[in-house]
Amino acid sequence: MYSKKVIQHFQKPHNQGQIKNADAVGRVGNPACGDIMKIYLKIKDKTIKDVKFETMGCAAAIAVSSVLTDLVKNKTLVEALKVDNDKIVKELGGLPEQKIHCSMLAVKALKKAVDNYQK
Ligand code: FES
Repeated sequence: MYSKKVIQHFQKPHNQGQIKNADAVGRVGNPACGDIMKIYLKIKDKTIKDVKFETMGCAAAIAVSSVLTDLVKNKTLVEALKVDNDKIVKELGGLPEQKIHCSMLAVKALKKAVDNYQK
């Protein structure tokens, strides 16, 4: 059902945890399945210097969180916001159709964190 890459990210997620003195946090939930994702950002000179996540959810939600953090680390905010669902799914070598919505959670959590930072 899942690609090898999804399983790898699920079993050994990258950048999992909290940033205690984060500059921004984005928290989103999926009302349909009840999964929750939190993204923490450390930002300097409009660049994401560190990023971590906490996700309570399915294997796909954890894998997309992990790959998202890899994709946005050391990117400017503008570059990071260009990471979309398609990019995440491609990076993971695909997701089953019924799990595509999980990738949207990661993008929404990142956008929310950046929004909170800009406010
Ligand atoms: Fe809820 Fe994957 S099933 S985010």
